[in-house]
Amino acid sequence: MISANTSNTQVRLNAILTKVDNVKPLPVNVTRAIKLMSDPDVDVRDVAAAIALDQALAARILKLANSAYYGFTHPASTLHEAVVRLGFRRTKTVLFTVTYSNTLNRRVVGYNLARGVLWQHSVAVAMVAQRLSQRVAYPAPDEAYIAGLLHDIGKLMIAQYYQLDWQQLLDLAETQKLMLFEVEQYLYGVDHAQVGGALARKWNLPAVLQEAIGFHHTPPAAPTAPELAAVVHLADIICLRYGIGLTHETFLPVPNYQALAMISVPPEEIDLLLAKYSDMLEGVALPE
Ligand SMILES: [Fe+2]
Ligand SMILES: [Fe+2]
Repeated sequence: MISANTSNTQVRLNAILTKVDNVKPLPVNVTRAIKLMSDPDVDVRDVAAAIALDQALAARILKLANSAYYGFTHPASTLHEAVVRLGFRRTKTVLFTVTYSNTLNRRVVGYNLARGVLWQHSVAVAMVAQRLSQRVAYPAPDEAYIAGLLHDIGKLMIAQYYQLDWQQLLDLAETQKLMLFEVEQYLYGVDHAQVGGALARKWNLPAVLQEAIGFHHTPPAAPTAPELAAVVHLADIICLRYGIGLTHETFLPVPNYQALAMISVPPEEIDLLLAKYSDMLEGVALPE
Protein backbone atom coordinates (compact mmCIF):
# COMPACT_ATOMS: atom_id res chain seq x y z
CA MET A 1 0.00 0.00 0.00
CA ILE A 2 1.23 3.49 -0.79
CA SER A 3 1.70 5.59 2.32
CA ALA A 4 0.15 9.06 2.54
CA ASN A 5 3.61 10.54 2.35
CA THR A 6 4.53 8.67 -0.83
CA SER A 7 1.25 9.55 -2.51
CA ASN A 8 1.71 13.25 -1.62
CA THR A 9 5.11 13.15 -3.24
CA GLN A 10 3.58 11.48 -6.29
CA VAL A 11 0.91 14.17 -6.55
CA ARG A 12 3.56 16.90 -6.44
CA LEU A 13 5.75 15.14 -8.98
CA ASN A 14 2.81 14.71 -11.35
CA ALA A 15 1.90 18.37 -10.99
CA ILE A 16 5.46 19.43 -11.83
CA LEU A 17 5.71 17.02 -14.77
CA THR A 18 2.45 18.29 -16.26
CA LYS A 19 3.14 21.98 -15.81
CA VAL A 20 6.82 22.24 -16.61
CA ASP A 21 7.71 22.41 -20.26
CA ASN A 22 11.30 23.62 -20.26
CA VAL A 23 12.76 20.14 -20.66
CA LYS A 24 11.86 18.62 -23.97
CA PRO A 25 11.51 14.87 -24.22
CA LEU A 26 13.91 12.91 -26.37
CA PRO A 27 13.01 13.51 -30.03
CA VAL A 28 11.18 10.58 -31.64
CA ASN A 29 14.05 9.73 -34.01
CA VAL A 30 16.56 9.68 -31.13
CA THR A 31 14.31 7.42 -29.06
CA ARG A 32 13.96 5.20 -32.11
CA ALA A 33 17.72 5.06 -32.70
CA ILE A 34 18.37 4.27 -29.02
CA LYS A 35 15.73 1.56 -29.03
CA LEU A 36 17.14 0.04 -32.21
CA MET A 37 20.64 -0.04 -30.70
CA SER A 38 19.44 -2.09 -27.74
CA ASP A 39 18.74 -4.92 -30.19
CA PRO A 40 22.07 -6.68 -30.86
CA ASP A 41 20.81 -8.02 -34.19
CA VAL A 42 19.76 -4.67 -35.55
CA ASP A 43 20.88 -3.56 -39.00
CA VAL A 44 23.21 -0.54 -38.59
CA ARG A 45 21.57 1.00 -41.66
CA ASP A 46 18.32 1.35 -39.73
CA VAL A 47 20.12 3.12 -36.87
CA ALA A 48 21.86 5.44 -39.33
CA ALA A 49 18.56 6.15 -41.07
CA ALA A 50 16.93 7.17 -37.77
CA ILE A 51 19.82 9.48 -36.90
CA ALA A 52 19.93 10.94 -40.41
CA LEU A 53 16.49 12.51 -39.83
CA ASP A 54 18.21 15.06 -37.60
CA GLN A 55 20.90 16.96 -39.47
CA ALA A 56 22.59 18.41 -36.41
CA LEU A 57 22.85 15.00 -34.80
CA ALA A 58 24.11 13.41 -37.98
CA ALA A 59 26.79 16.09 -38.30
CA ARG A 60 27.97 15.61 -34.71
CA ILE A 61 28.19 11.84 -35.08
CA LEU A 62 30.21 12.17 -38.29
CA LYS A 63 32.52 14.76 -36.75
CA LEU A 64 33.17 12.63 -33.70
CA ALA A 65 33.78 9.48 -35.72
CA ASN A 66 36.37 11.41 -37.71
CA SER A 67 38.23 12.86 -34.78
CA ALA A 68 41.85 11.78 -34.52
CA TYR A 69 41.02 9.82 -31.38
CA TYR A 70 39.59 6.99 -33.39
CA GLY A 71 42.79 6.72 -35.38
CA PHE A 72 41.48 5.56 -38.72
CA THR A 73 43.50 6.38 -41.81
CA HIS A 74 40.62 7.60 -43.95
CA PRO A 75 37.64 9.64 -42.79
CA ALA A 76 34.21 8.09 -42.40
CA SER A 77 32.11 9.53 -45.18
CA THR A 78 28.74 8.01 -44.37
CA LEU A 79 26.69 8.01 -41.23
CA HIS A 80 26.58 4.23 -41.43
CA GLU A 81 30.38 4.06 -41.32
CA ALA A 82 30.48 6.62 -38.52
CA VAL A 83 28.09 4.58 -36.35
CA VAL A 84 30.11 1.42 -36.99
CA ARG A 85 33.32 3.18 -35.92
CA LEU A 86 31.87 4.70 -32.81
CA GLY A 87 29.97 1.59 -31.82
CA PHE A 88 26.46 1.62 -30.39
CA ARG A 89 27.50 2.51 -26.85
CA ARG A 90 29.39 5.63 -27.82
CA THR A 91 26.74 6.60 -30.38
CA LYS A 92 24.10 6.38 -27.67
CA THR A 93 25.96 8.69 -25.31
CA VAL A 94 26.53 11.17 -28.15
CA LEU A 95 22.80 11.19 -28.91
CA PHE A 96 21.99 12.06 -25.30
CA THR A 97 24.76 14.65 -25.11
CA VAL A 98 23.75 16.47 -28.28
CA THR A 99 20.06 16.35 -27.42
CA TYR A 100 20.50 17.92 -23.99
CA SER A 101 23.38 20.31 -24.58
CA ASN A 102 21.07 23.29 -25.20
CA THR A 103 18.66 22.43 -22.41
CA LEU A 104 21.35 22.06 -19.76
CA ASN A 105 23.28 25.05 -21.04
CA ARG A 106 20.70 27.55 -19.76
CA ARG A 107 21.17 29.94 -16.93
CA VAL A 108 19.20 28.70 -13.90
CA VAL A 109 18.50 31.80 -11.86
CA GLY A 110 16.86 30.10 -8.86
CA TYR A 111 19.97 28.03 -8.21
CA ASN A 112 22.32 30.88 -9.04
CA LEU A 113 23.80 28.89 -11.90
CA ALA A 114 25.26 31.11 -14.62
CA ARG A 115 24.69 30.14 -18.22
CA GLY A 116 26.68 27.02 -19.07
CA VAL A 117 27.47 26.00 -15.50
CA LEU A 118 24.84 23.25 -15.24
CA TRP A 119 26.03 21.92 -18.59
CA GLN A 120 29.66 21.96 -17.49
CA HIS A 121 28.75 20.23 -14.22
CA SER A 122 26.64 17.62 -16.04
CA VAL A 123 29.37 16.75 -18.54
CA ALA A 124 31.98 16.59 -15.76
CA VAL A 125 29.82 14.26 -13.65
CA ALA A 126 29.14 12.14 -16.75
CA MET A 127 32.87 11.79 -17.48
CA VAL A 128 33.81 11.04 -13.89
CA ALA A 129 30.96 8.52 -13.54
CA GLN A 130 32.23 6.78 -16.65
CA ARG A 131 35.79 6.66 -15.29
CA LEU A 132 34.58 5.55 -11.86
CA SER A 133 32.82 2.62 -13.51
CA GLN A 134 36.25 1.14 -14.20
CA ARG A 135 37.40 1.73 -10.63
CA VAL A 136 34.35 0.04 -9.10
CA ALA A 137 33.90 -2.56 -11.87
CA TYR A 138 30.48 -1.26 -12.85
CA PRO A 139 29.78 -3.14 -16.08
CA ALA A 140 28.07 -0.39 -18.12
CA PRO A 141 30.20 2.78 -18.24
CA ASP A 142 28.06 4.25 -21.03
CA GLU A 143 25.02 4.02 -18.78
CA ALA A 144 27.02 5.79 -16.05
CA TYR A 145 27.84 8.56 -18.53
CA ILE A 146 24.19 9.11 -19.45
CA ALA A 147 23.09 8.99 -15.80
CA GLY A 148 25.76 11.57 -14.93
CA LEU A 149 24.74 13.79 -17.81
CA LEU A 150 21.09 13.86 -16.76
CA HIS A 151 21.42 13.59 -12.96
CA ASP A 152 20.54 17.22 -12.15
CA ILE A 153 17.99 17.77 -14.92
CA GLY A 154 15.29 18.07 -12.22
CA LYS A 155 16.83 21.42 -11.18
CA LEU A 156 15.55 22.97 -14.40
CA MET A 157 12.05 21.82 -13.58
CA ILE A 158 12.10 22.82 -9.91
CA ALA A 159 13.42 26.24 -10.92
CA GLN A 160 10.56 26.71 -13.36
CA TYR A 161 7.82 25.39 -11.10
CA TYR A 162 8.70 27.05 -7.80
CA GLN A 163 9.74 30.60 -7.09
CA LEU A 164 13.24 29.73 -5.97
CA ASP A 165 15.15 32.32 -4.03
CA TRP A 166 18.80 31.40 -3.92
CA GLN A 167 19.47 33.48 -0.85
CA GLN A 168 16.66 31.66 0.96
CA LEU A 169 18.10 28.28 -0.08
CA LEU A 170 21.47 29.33 1.24
CA ASP A 171 20.10 30.70 4.51
CA LEU A 172 18.15 27.54 5.18
CA ALA A 173 21.15 25.36 4.33
CA GLU A 174 23.25 27.34 6.79
CA THR A 175 20.80 27.74 9.65
CA GLN A 176 19.21 24.29 9.47
CA LYS A 177 22.44 22.51 8.47
CA LEU A 178 20.77 21.03 5.42
CA MET A 179 22.14 19.92 2.07
CA LEU A 180 20.60 21.48 -1.04
CA PHE A 181 18.28 18.57 -1.79
CA GLU A 182 17.17 18.59 1.86
CA VAL A 183 16.33 22.29 1.61
CA GLU A 184 14.18 21.48 -1.41
CA GLN A 185 12.46 18.72 0.58
CA TYR A 186 11.97 21.13 3.48
CA LEU A 187 10.43 23.82 1.29
CA TYR A 188 8.52 21.82 -1.30
CA GLY A 189 8.32 18.20 -0.16
CA VAL A 190 10.19 17.08 -3.30
CA ASP A 191 13.78 17.44 -4.45
CA HIS A 192 15.45 17.81 -7.85
CA ALA A 193 16.64 14.19 -7.84
CA GLN A 194 13.08 12.88 -7.44
CA VAL A 195 11.81 15.22 -10.14
CA GLY A 196 14.57 14.11 -12.52
CA GLY A 197 13.82 10.46 -11.76
CA ALA A 198 10.13 11.00 -12.45
CA LEU A 199 11.01 12.67 -15.74
CA ALA A 200 13.21 9.71 -16.71
CA ARG A 201 10.27 7.42 -15.94
CA LYS A 202 7.97 9.53 -18.09
CA TRP A 203 10.48 9.21 -20.94
CA ASN A 204 10.65 5.45 -20.47
CA LEU A 205 14.38 5.45 -19.89
CA PRO A 206 15.60 2.13 -18.43
CA ALA A 207 14.80 1.62 -14.74
CA VAL A 208 18.48 1.71 -13.82
CA LEU A 209 18.76 5.25 -15.22
CA GLN A 210 15.53 6.35 -13.54
CA GLU A 211 16.97 5.21 -10.22
CA ALA A 212 20.45 6.60 -10.77
CA ILE A 213 18.94 10.05 -11.43
CA GLY A 214 16.20 9.79 -8.83
CA PHE A 215 18.45 8.60 -6.01
CA HIS A 216 21.77 10.33 -6.75
CA HIS A 217 21.59 12.03 -3.35
CA THR A 218 20.24 8.99 -1.51
CA PRO A 219 21.61 5.89 -3.30
CA PRO A 220 20.79 3.35 -0.54
CA ALA A 221 17.10 4.16 -1.03
CA ALA A 222 17.17 3.04 -4.69
CA PRO A 223 14.95 -0.05 -4.80
CA THR A 224 16.65 -2.19 -7.45
CA ALA A 225 19.85 -0.58 -8.75
CA PRO A 226 21.62 1.40 -6.03
CA GLU A 227 25.14 0.84 -7.46
CA LEU A 228 24.76 3.22 -10.39
CA ALA A 229 23.11 5.79 -8.11
CA ALA A 230 26.16 5.46 -5.84
CA VAL A 231 28.55 5.93 -8.79
CA VAL A 232 26.74 9.12 -9.82
CA HIS A 233 26.63 10.28 -6.18
CA LEU A 234 30.38 9.93 -5.86
CA ALA A 235 31.02 11.52 -9.28
CA ASP A 236 28.85 14.48 -8.22
CA ILE A 237 30.81 14.93 -5.01
CA ILE A 238 34.14 14.73 -6.81
CA CYS A 239 33.08 17.40 -9.33
CA LEU A 240 31.64 19.69 -6.65
CA ARG A 241 34.79 19.34 -4.53
CA TYR A 242 36.75 20.27 -7.60
CA GLY A 243 34.48 23.31 -7.87
CA ILE A 244 32.56 22.46 -11.04
CA GLY A 245 28.94 23.45 -10.49
CA LEU A 246 29.47 24.56 -6.90
CA THR A 247 27.74 27.89 -6.23
CA HIS A 248 28.66 28.18 -2.56
CA GLU A 249 30.79 26.06 -0.25
CA THR A 250 27.78 25.53 2.04
CA PHE A 251 26.34 23.41 -0.75
CA LEU A 252 29.20 20.90 -0.75
CA PRO A 253 27.32 17.66 -0.08
CA VAL A 254 28.40 15.28 2.65
CA PRO A 255 29.20 11.87 1.15
CA ASN A 256 26.66 9.17 1.84
CA TYR A 257 28.93 6.59 3.50
CA GLN A 258 26.53 3.74 2.99
CA ALA A 259 26.52 4.54 -0.73
CA LEU A 260 30.33 4.55 -0.82
CA ALA A 261 30.38 1.20 0.95
CA MET A 262 28.05 -0.24 -1.69
CA ILE A 263 30.67 0.42 -4.35
CA SER A 264 33.58 -0.35 -2.00
CA VAL A 265 35.17 3.09 -2.11
CA PRO A 266 36.51 4.18 1.28
CA PRO A 267 35.80 7.87 2.03
CA GLU A 268 39.51 8.68 2.21
CA GLU A 269 39.85 7.65 -1.43
CA ILE A 270 37.63 10.52 -2.64
CA ASP A 271 40.46 13.05 -2.68
CA LEU A 272 42.81 10.57 -4.33
CA LEU A 273 40.25 10.06 -7.09
CA LEU A 274 39.83 13.82 -7.35
CA ALA A 275 43.58 14.19 -7.88
CA LYS A 276 43.55 11.35 -10.39
CA TYR A 277 40.76 12.92 -12.46
CA SER A 278 41.88 16.54 -12.12
CA ASP A 279 43.54 16.67 -15.57
CA MET A 280 40.33 15.43 -17.13
CA LEU A 281 38.24 17.86 -15.08
CA GLU A 282 40.44 20.77 -16.02
CA GLY A 283 39.58 20.06 -19.63
CA VAL A 284 35.82 20.36 -19.05
CA ALA A 285 35.51 23.97 -20.07
CA LEU A 286 32.48 26.21 -19.88
CA PRO A 287 30.76 26.20 -23.25
CA GLU A 288 31.20 29.37 -25.34
FE1 LIG B 1 21.91 16.78 -7.54
FE1 LIG C 1 25.04 17.49 -9.40
